[in-house]
Amino acid sequence: MSIINKKVSSFATPFYLFDCIRMLDNITRLRNLFSYPETDFFYSLKTNDFIPLLRLLEKNGMQCEVESSKGLELARKIGFRKIIFNGVAKTSAELELACKKNDCIVIIDNLDELYALENITKNKIQVGLRIGIVQSHMYKFGMQKEDFIEAVEYIYASEILDLGGFHFHVGSFVLDIMVFKRALTKLSDYMHSVPKKFFESVKFINIGGGFPCEGKIKKTIFEKILDTYVFRYSFVNMLLLREEQKNKYEKEQFDSEVYLSSLSKIIQEYFKDYCKMVGHKVNLFLEPGTVISGNAFDVYAKVVRIKRNMVFLDVSRFIEHGYMIYNHFIYNYTRPSNEINSALIFGPLGTNNDLFSRVYQGERLQVGDIVRIASMGAYTYSTRKSFVKSQPTVLIKKGDFIALYGKKR
Ligand SMILES: Cc1ncc(COP(=O)(O)O)c(C=O)c1O
Repeated sequence: MSIINKKVSSFATPFYLFDCIRMLDNITRLRNLFSYPETDFFYSLKTNDFIPLLRLLEKNGMQCEVESSKGLELARKIGFRKIIFNGVAKTSAELELACKKNDCIVIIDNLDELYALENITKNKIQVGLRIGIVQSHMYKFGMQKEDFIEAVEYIYASEILDLGGFHFHVGSFVLDIMVFKRALTKLSDYMHSVPKKFFESVKFINIGGGFPCEGKIKKTIFEKILDTYVFRYSFVNMLLLREEQKNKYEKEQFDSEVYLSSLSKIIQEYFKDYCKMVGHKVNLFLEPGTVISGNAFDVYAKVVRIKRNMVFLDVSRFIEHGYMIYNHFIYNYTRPSNEINSALIFGPLGTNNDLFSRVYQGERLQVGDIVRIASMGAYTYSTRKSFVKSQPTVLIKKGDFIALYGKKR
């Protein structure tokens, strides 16, 4: 890694700029807002598995959540001391790997997995039970109540399995806090359905991740439809969306602080009930991903060509896993201003939906301008696709210093 103290604009585009300080601020904010009940943070590795980011998180006292043997091996290599192993379809080999060291809490998704685990290990292992927060035959995650009761009884009778706690995860970028409230209520209901004696060993309640970050917003259904028919309805695009998007830039952006502090208060209320049920204190476990890495990475790209109202960048929208779901804020980095301008901002791929945005902030874009695409840290670096024309390199920013990670192109 070469340390260079140059201007961001002097590096070849496209690149990610990873702002370490911004990420550390995100951790501090989480710690301050979730101080009671006692909280352990397990960073969700799949959100962004950039090695220097993982190292920094480990150095700053975070633990890790993984969903595969590859993730588990990486987390161990980095040195995370406590690891949560999640996933609906862990193979027997993956369960074996988890049992090899005393650092894992295996979150059991289904009875099948529970029985398999007991036959795999001779050593004691701490497990958690994932509850199915949606009652549907189509819902893939966790256990429905009958299975949950059976699992609790089974673990109680086991010499090897130790019931450490319970888990749910409500989804990603969940803007409606009531979704958490409903899941917390569901967990109460599950816990009330088994006698207290089963909870002797319970130490944690794990409510997963799902907390949004600043700098990106979910698309409306209308926008998604227009994305699909971008050319056919370009007239509608320009007239209607322009107004809608303008409002988004002008409106105050999502405020993490307000969101997280309301969520923390709700959790505190529920924990009173949980502690009463188990008869002792339990810790809160969180598995934040997006709220830690999301706004810590921006992408910088160059305007390569302009055609009528279309602007073509040298980076593809397809680096992001959720490219049909989110709008990111785009800024003219070369010539910033408060102006809101509209244009169809495309990536270079040979497909219509490689479309970033219909609006940006700053002076009118020209060929050669650099744009900053905000909050590209979650589910883009770890999910980037190899057919994309040019993969962004990564620059690491710490204060005034910038380092280029990996090989120079
Ligand atoms: C089980 C689990 N925990 C944590 C996360 C992280 O979620 P987020 O990035 O929304 O915080 C995910 C992501 O989908 C997940 O599946």
